[in-house]
Amino acid sequence: MRATFGRFPSGVTALCATDVTGEPIGMAVSAFVNVSLEPPLVGVFVQTSSTTWPKLRERPRIGLSVLGAGQQTPCRQLAARQVDRFANVSWESGPDGSVFLHGAAAWFDCEIESETTTGDHRFVLLRIIGHDFEAEQDPLVFYASKFHELPNGIPDN
Ligand SMILES: Cc1cc2nc3c(=O)[nH]c(=O)nc-3n(C[C@H](O)[C@H](O)[C@H](O)COP(=O)(O)O)c2cc1C
Repeated sequence: MRATFGRFPSGVTALCATDVTGEPIGMAVSAFVNVSLEPPLVGVFVQTSSTTWPKLRERPRIGLSVLGAGQQTPCRQLAARQVDRFANVSWESGPDGSVFLHGAAAWFDCEIESETTTGDHRFVLLRIIGHDFEAEQDPLVFYASKFHELPNGIPDN
């Protein structure tokens, strides 16, 4: 089933915030969906077994960075155990503790709206407090369990 699911290409996001000590915490999440313009909402699916989500959900704000082409290494790090997930990762935090990765294609500053358990994942609905994007930055693409880049880059508008 993983292989079948993997035929659907997606981007990858980094859900990150500072913890109570000001250190960054975060995880890579490809199960992301734009949900609503009014009110502004996005959603992510997080494994119920995640050890990072219970820490993130306690934070007042969560930063969601849409990873850029070339960010395979930070992406892998943000999914790895027993490593410093932010080693050599350039980031900044917002006033309420959201953490945003430099080099990303887009950013959302979010608050948790609701959480619903669905099978072995939680659907987390996030209210968008702020957002921005970098028009010149292609996104990272995840497809068939591998990282890819858009062959022709971002199309001209
Ligand atoms: C490309 C990629 C996509 C991922 N997508 C998700 C996802 O959509 N949801 C999720 O819960 N974990 C996802 N993960 C796994 C998490 O990043 C992380 O490995 C997992 O939460 C275990 O770490 P934790 O216990 O610190 O949370 C993904 C990992 C990678 C490398």
